[in-house]
Amino acid sequence: MKKNLVILIAATILFSCKLMPKKEEKENIKPMTGKNLYGMIGADSVFQYTLTNKNGMVVKILNYGGTVTDIITPDKNGKMGDVILGYESLDGYLQTGNPYFGCLVGRYGNRIANAKFTLDGKEHTLAANNGPNTLHGGLKGFDKVVWNVKLSTDSSVLLSYLSKDGEEGYPGNLSVDVMYTLGPDNALKIEYAAVTDKATPLNLTNHCYFNLSAGTDSNILDHELMLKADKYTPVNATLIPTGKIDDVKGTPMDFTTPKKIGKDLASVIGGYDHNWVLNRSGNDLELIGSVYHAGSGRYMEVFTTQPGIQFYTGNFLDGTLKNTRDGMKYVKHAAICLETQHFPDSPNQPSFPNTILKPGETYHHTTVYKFSVH
Ligand code: GLA
Repeated sequence: MKKNLVILIAATILFSCKLMPKKEEKENIKPMTGKNLYGMIGADSVFQYTLTNKNGMVVKILNYGGTVTDIITPDKNGKMGDVILGYESLDGYLQTGNPYFGCLVGRYGNRIANAKFTLDGKEHTLAANNGPNTLHGGLKGFDKVVWNVKLSTDSSVLLSYLSKDGEEGYPGNLSVDVMYTLGPDNALKIEYAAVTDKATPLNLTNHCYFNLSAGTDSNILDHELMLKADKYTPVNATLIPTGKIDDVKGTPMDFTTPKKIGKDLASVIGGYDHNWVLNRSGNDLELIGSVYHAGSGRYMEVFTTQPGIQFYTGNFLDGTLKNTRDGMKYVKHAAICLETQHFPDSPNQPSFPNTILKPGETYHHTTVYKFSVH
């Protein structure tokens, strides 16, 4: 145990350096100006960090849940607007039923069937917080904890969290770093890294709800989506993949060329809430999808290193959330989530790509949401 801890600490130090800015980048770092106390959770202070760039783009992030509260980008006329759903205060984010607005998700994003998995011959039981299944890390996932802030500048925030052995039923002390960086090219980069002292499933993602109209359109039916994915993983009635990998061609799931989200939405039972299998050969950062909103001219490209993406059309939003920004009603299909990820339920599906992180390995994942106007 002691030896494991030493290895973990050593790896943590190494891996922290991995996400630290390089020497030449460090020279450009100015002390952060935008850090405000946002609220308290017990004795923990929750701060909101404001990242800016030379174009006036603004991204705001909390150390609570690593939550992105605002992404403010220009439309085709230069008018700035917030392209994600959020609340007006911390109370909103803390309310029961907050549907994971803007947060980091872990230890395992999306569902694990029947809230259990077997690893190296041992069965592990998780919290069944979504029917019979576990969803987004369990009762108190990485979205509901206060993260440490290792570094903050005007363009980046480096968050860290130590998830203890047994937390939410997962094995191993897992040390996680996540760095958000706003680039001069209006790209929000999210870099994830993690090490563990026992083998554990791991699937980290972010859960922003995008509506590129920035408050003009109450839903995303007119947004055009493109996903570089010829295949997807069909699901059962509780949204667990059946294990099959189906072709999207000739089905409502086909977004290989840009298509309005509303076009085939009604023919998908419950709405879109599936994992697409991205067309890719390696693990490099690649453009895998885009979203366009003609009314505002806003265009968002998604790049990732991950094999899959959960495209979710806010099917469970019903206009009843409290403390919403400007008193807005977030109705069904008010926004989309594009959660870059490993496939749901992989720990129980041997044919899916591996999601087990072992001691001595380092998990890496990078996703970029890049904004422009067309
Ligand atoms: C993911 C899931 C959805 C839903 C949302 C959060 O996208 O796949 O079913 O649980 O998160 O509300």
